[in-house]
Amino acid sequence: MKRVLTGYRPTGRLHLGHYHGNIEHMLKLQNEYECFFFIADWHALTTDYENPENIAEYTREMIIDWLAAGIDPDKAAIYRQSDVREVSELALYFGMISPLGWLERNPTYKEQLRELKERHLQTYGFLGYPVLQAADILIVKGEIVPVGEDQLPHLELTREIARRFNFLYGEYFKEPQALLSETPRVPGIDGRKMSKSYGNAIFLSDAPDVIRNKVSAMFTDPRRIYLKDPGHPEECPVFALHKLYSAKRFNEIEKLCKNAEIGCTDCKKELGERLVEFLQPFQKKREEVLSRENVVSKVLKSGLEKVIPIAREVISDVHDLMGLKKI
Ligand code: TRP
Ligand code: SF4
Repeated sequence: MKRVLTGYRPTGRLHLGHYHGNIEHMLKLQNEYECFFFIADWHALTTDYENPENIAEYTREMIIDWLAAGIDPDKAAIYRQSDVREVSELALYFGMISPLGWLERNPTYKEQLRELKERHLQTYGFLGYPVLQAADILIVKGEIVPVGEDQLPHLELTREIARRFNFLYGEYFKEPQALLSETPRVPGIDGRKMSKSYGNAIFLSDAPDVIRNKVSAMFTDPRRIYLKDPGHPEECPVFALHKLYSAKRFNEIEKLCKNAEIGCTDCKKELGERLVEFLQPFQKKREEVLSRENVVSKVLKSGLEKVIPIAREVISDVHDLMGLKKI
């Protein structure tokens, strides 16, 4: 069975954008492959090293949401990066063989430097972000890596690092493949891409009234000022969400909107109810998860038990290949 590995930086609760982009994909993969799903808390530190105090809580929230969404610790190994010290050792060896040019040329790195200008990111750790990511993947010999498009340059670097290691010390690591998921466009309440940092997200754990309020505050087609103005559903974020949650009705809604036969207030009310229904099983499961004692530490412990033997073996092979521990 092939190995699938993916990591999330701990950013706290999951929202609908995460769900459709990645979680749905992981739910499928966990039935078909040997899966490793981990929280990349060291990666969070590369940008948030000045305020590391939230990372543990965000890790916890994310794991609870994974479990509530149906990620199954009996199928997938769920663990935290910083619990696997072998990752840091492998990253150190990879750091020795990664030319600076590769890292400085990485488009994701350059873009992030530009976007997060307010933080001081001219650090060794931040430049080495993809080196650490290569260690995450190769410490369990991950073969398939489900990621978003923004991660492709990082994955390419992992492949280059694997090749360089093999060239220097002997054929050992396989080059992992990226697996892109088909992600529908999930707009947030202001119509921009849903993202925690934009403050426009609907979280999987939002209570029904919170969901209703958020939906009622959503932006709509700006050209529809009066009820009698025909709408342009394709330009309306409310309609984009209807497409995802109102399978039986969205054709109808499209017509009603174009013919000015439904008002935006009613249209949003309807969407609010669909979303409350959609998230209800998740919220039920979440309560069940939270009722289990020490659920997060138990899950992390069982995940770690699956990862550690593999990680130790890889490190021991690496020592042999490099001839490090001969004495
Ligand atoms: N860089 C990834 C992101 O920002 C997170 C990540 C860290 C990751 N290590 C990984 C993803 C290994 C896939 C494989 O989303
Ligand atoms: Fe958007 Fe619905 Fe209003 Fe049409 S009726 S503009 S789809 S909110």
